[in-house]
Amino acid sequence: MKKVYIETMGCQMNKSDTERMLGMLSNFGYEETKDSKSADLLMINTCSIRQLSEDKAFSLIGTWGKWKKTRPDLKIGFCGCVAQQKANEIFKRAHYVDFVLGTHKIYSLPEIIEKINRGEKVCECEETHKTEDNEASKYNISRVKSINAWIPITEGCNNFCTYCIVPYTRGRERSRLPEIILKEVKDALNSGFKEITLLGQNVDSYGKDFTDRQYRLADLLKEVNAIEGKFRIRFVTSYPTDITDELIKTTVELDKVCEYFHIPMQSGSSEVLKKMNRRYDRETYKKIAQKIRDMVPDVTITSDFIAGFPGETEDQFVETLTAMEEIGLDYSNTAAYSPREKTVAAKWVDKFIDEDTKFERLARLNEQNRKCCLASNKKFVGREMEVLIENFENHKGKNVITGRTRNNKIVHIPSDVDLTGEFVNAKITSCKTWYLVGEIV
Ligand code: SAH
Ligand code: SF4
Ligand code: F3S
Repeated sequence: MKKVYIETMGCQMNKSDTERMLGMLSNFGYEETKDSKSADLLMINTCSIRQLSEDKAFSLIGTWGKWKKTRPDLKIGFCGCVAQQKANEIFKRAHYVDFVLGTHKIYSLPEIIEKINRGEKVCECEETHKTEDNEASKYNISRVKSINAWIPITEGCNNFCTYCIVPYTRGRERSRLPEIILKEVKDALNSGFKEITLLGQNVDSYGKDFTDRQYRLADLLKEVNAIEGKFRIRFVTSYPTDITDELIKTTVELDKVCEYFHIPMQSGSSEVLKKMNRRYDRETYKKIAQKIRDMVPDVTITSDFIAGFPGETEDQFVETLTAMEEIGLDYSNTAAYSPREKTVAAKWVDKFIDEDTKFERLARLNEQNRKCCLASNKKFVGREMEVLIENFENHKGKNVITGRTRNNKIVHIPSDVDLTGEFVNAKITSCKTWYLVGEIV
């Protein structure tokens, strides 16, 4: 067996692709190693959401390029979102790379390996406009051992928010076939996973592109929910205005679907949202969040925000801070705006916010997030909640099991027994900013 090491950056989509590439490579004589120095094949699965992630990728393969000087047989592959975007340019910047593989045809990897072993250089970055469902069904997936299995249901995105590179790196939106998804769900459950997260840039669009059937996210959730056994179902990411009443109702009716929505708002200012090409304003988002809270007991709603979008004024930024509090968001991912090649907003150079202001705003955003998260956690103190245990660890000198509630709150429970993979009922006794503390009842 030869050894392959894959460094994975970016979101769950990339993690899912890595698991698929490892599964495929295992059929072609490669086993995974966690030690990059002992690998025969080194691959990097890159992310281009922000400049920083792209820079990290080039810095890492620079190191690998140096190793190759003394080990000429070493093969190096550059994959993922940066590969998709830059294609052949990668060879100019890193001549020691053997192959560049974009996000559209990861199942051409076996062919690529054959070619590079014959000494060829390969670039496979064509956009395909279809899913790889046929190929996917032929191979195993080498899932990272965990409690939660991430299963892509859509690929790509059609929204073209003006800051975002994803439509360029992942292509147009396409839905994977329900029969393939259901098979992957069953396989994951059979190998012990206890939580299934259906994944897509905008899961509420699932099925819109099917021409041969009427089948949407709510239908898929019903079929996954009908699979026997005790497990949980989640779905991310939701686009505010695409969330239908039927979907909200379905999440309430189906016992395995958890009370959790991830709905990025991006900014609290209606003017900024317009410039971002988001199809809602502050009030609309607020109403949708309120509707979900009214319909789904104990639901948590999390979000993403960008600080320092081109042209954002201090007042508009403050609107983001007030929105987080007013809407009572339970947790938010935050980032400073990073201009991305090809995107519309990257051309508004004269409107760019200087770095100091941007990072000062990001710090205030993070402070507000901490406040919101603590306020949200406090609501659950005194409650009894079901926790799915994910880890057994030593935290500040004490043994604890950690896991998540149905509404995705992290819970720490003192325990000398490792209950990873079990569902326990816990009384929440106190909370910190980022997690709840409980005891088994
Ligand atoms: N499909 C999801 C987001 C995917 S990208 C959605 O519609 O919201 C994940 C997050 O990265 C985004 O929500 C956004 O907050 C952030 N992001 C995307 N492009 C960015 C950029 N150019 N600079 C900073 N943050 C960015
Ligand atoms: Fe990017 Fe917008 Fe698509 Fe999300 S919805 S992936 S932010 S373009
Ligand atoms: Fe994901 Fe980064 Fe690509 S966030 S879709 S890996 S650009």
